[in-house]
Amino acid sequence: MEKFEVILCIITLLLTLTSYLFRRKKKGEACKRERLPPGSMGWPYIGETLQLYSQDPNVFFANKVKRYGEIYKTHLLGCACVMVASPEASRFVLVTQAHLFKPTYPASKENLIGKSAIFFHQGDYHTRLRKLVQSSLSPKALRALVASIEDIIASALNSLAGGHVITTFHEMKKLSFEVGILLIFGQLEAHHKEELKKNYTIVDRGYNSFPTKLPGSLYRKALLARNQLSKILNEIIYERKEKKSSQKDLLGSLLSSKDDKGEILSEGQIADNIIGVLFAAQDTTASAMTWILKYLYDDPQRLETVKAEQEVIYKANEVGNLHLTWAQTRNMPITHKVILESLRMASIISFTFREAVVDVEYNGYLIPKGWKIMPLFRNMHHNPQFFNDPQKFNLSRFEVAPKPNTFMPFGSGLHACPGNELAKLEMLILTHHLVTKFRWEVVGPQSGTQYGPFPVPLHGLPTKFWKESTTYRQHGRFLIKDAPPFSRT
Ligand code: HEM
Repeated sequence: MEKFEVILCIITLLLTLTSYLFRRKKKGEACKRERLPPGSMGWPYIGETLQLYSQDPNVFFANKVKRYGEIYKTHLLGCACVMVASPEASRFVLVTQAHLFKPTYPASKENLIGKSAIFFHQGDYHTRLRKLVQSSLSPKALRALVASIEDIIASALNSLAGGHVITTFHEMKKLSFEVGILLIFGQLEAHHKEELKKNYTIVDRGYNSFPTKLPGSLYRKALLARNQLSKILNEIIYERKEKKSSQKDLLGSLLSSKDDKGEILSEGQIADNIIGVLFAAQDTTASAMTWILKYLYDDPQRLETVKAEQEVIYKANEVGNLHLTWAQTRNMPITHKVILESLRMASIISFTFREAVVDVEYNGYLIPKGWKIMPLFRNMHHNPQFFNDPQKFNLSRFEVAPKPNTFMPFGSGLHACPGNELAKLEMLILTHHLVTKFRWEVVGPQSGTQYGPFPVPLHGLPTKFWKESTTYRQHGRFLIKDAPPFSRT
């Protein structure tokens, strides 16, 4: 063969091979695309982010479920996502195949909380932290906190009484922050608490702001305040070590923990987890407590039913002169149902995020590696197949347990909320004090929700509070019955 013919042969062969590989790749991609869940990816880069932000997120997700079913794809905030709204798929992601998905958060949020915080991890480090956090939130640990939590709540509510307008959500945030501090540090010196509160408030404000480091931006201020928080926490840790104190609070557990190799946690890891727990505990619980106040106010009959339950305990405790006991908080069945139904109605955590670590197959659909997957708790909580007449607050629906995996206010699986019992304890004690000692009137709009990012009644629920008269209380009567009716426009 001539030299020229050999070269021609090689070129032809190479072209055929390239074209074959190219067609195979295209076919593979087309095949992959065909196996993706139904849905629309919107515009290049921005995807469907604008649609999400220009309407009520519930309506956005609910319309998608109506159109595409309980698993669909979309593109939000620069990420390709698969949304799932069925109990089976949520369990698949969060519980049975949780190892195929990792927790994922925007870097801007990770930087503010701290990269070593429990939420961002899997494996041994996560297991170790989880044990520590759970032990500080165990029934035994919570039992020891009941009286102090009650004191915090009683003093917070007393400070609201007087008939002036307060923003319920802000006040509930102060309250849940105090409980968070109690859980983490036990009794903390006032100057440390003030400094923590001051800097934490700045971090909190920057958390949902646009993450730019430009001078003067909320995000930059938050980063600076976050550094301050680390310094304050280091001081507290130093003082504890100096005193050789062996307190049994969360900080105590974190300080005394050693892994298999005898390694202790670094001060950075401890700080990230303390700030992480404060974050996880504050707005979530405050939002839930704000909704409870609203749902009780919305229906006088409901309020009376709860009052009747709490009044028995109040009288048994010498008209509130004795502290509530752990056993009493475990035996408030009607109030407990109010809490569950409020958590369902409000669905504080509407959804969560995970990221597929490999290509995952679910029910014939492909969830490609690197895609986000979001179990939609709210859509399940508001699905009439699982909760009859879902928009209606119905106390009796929790008389029987919900169908498995349809009710996940605290998530499920390895990352499920370790603070759920503390959150419920706060809500029970708050409700006890609220209905036995106070009356309140919601002023301003009576409906509407705002997201920041958790759902809260519009404007944080502006409300007026009054203390019930002791004379009436001593006669064992509810002042609210004798008070002039409030306008409920
Ligand atoms: C009504 C109040 C609360 C609600 C609705 C709530 C909800 C949740 C949910 C849904 C998750 C799971 C997120 C996921 O799977 O991605 C979670 C995780 C978590 N929550 Fe809560 N939470 C509440 C209160 C609290 C409190 C009071 C604390 C602590 C004192 C707390 C600490 C945590 C922590 C540390 C995690 C991360 C667990 C892990 O990654 O292993 N939460 N919470």
